[in-house]
Amino acid sequence: MIISSAEFVCSNTDYKKCPKEDIPEYAFIGRSNVGKSSLINMLTNSKGLAKTSGQPGKTQLINHFLINKAKTPWYLVDLPGYGYAKVSKSKKEKWQVFIQDYLTKRGNLIYIFMLVDSRLEPQKIDMDFMNWLGENELPFCIVFTKTDKLSKGKLQENIANYRAKTLETWDELPQQFITSAEKKVGREEILQTISEANSSIV
Ligand code: GTP
Ligand code: MG
Repeated sequence: MIISSAEFVCSNTDYKKCPKEDIPEYAFIGRSNVGKSSLINMLTNSKGLAKTSGQPGKTQLINHFLINKAKTPWYLVDLPGYGYAKVSKSKKEKWQVFIQDYLTKRGNLIYIFMLVDSRLEPQKIDMDFMNWLGENELPFCIVFTKTDKLSKGKLQENIANYRAKTLETWDELPQQFITSAEKKVGREEILQTISEANSSIV
């Protein structure tokens, strides 16, 4: 897919205030600092569309971006991370409620791209979140991030571990993508998946 335009639309904490549910939508979620905003910038070929930071907890709202508005428009959504963001417990709980509301109640949400740091062993918080997605019957795929930061061998090992851990509770593996926002790896594959989903809807 060619990205001909990408623009920020709005930020919300309330899914009811998000844009009209009239075009397909794809959301990006994962632990704080996993690389959600960086991946969105990589996918849309832009530097500062989604705000990134070395400090976990940068994205705090549901951010809608309108992609390819002239031809086949769709929304790309950047979400706050779960996990170790340096914010108060009460604020974290508030985030959790509005993110869960958004994910379960948004009518035009086609896929959730769940990002996982490829450098780490399977994390309980990721497994729990994946199980929550399953319990709520939400369609999702896994995106391994920051793959430029480790060797090919280590990457294969970590991915194999993640798959094995997933298969302890799941009958089959969700679709998976290997990415690096830094090296622009995985861009075509993700955009192709979105493009196919878009054309199966209209
Ligand atoms: P929150 O909004 O805080 O939840 O974080 P986020 O998941 O949006 O992460 P963000 O995109 O802000 O990236 C966090 C840090 O990881 C930044 O310092 C990025 O430069 C770095 N980073 C993200 N993706 C990659 C990647 O593919 N390779 C490398 N080397 N660094 C990356
Ligand atoms: Mg972010």
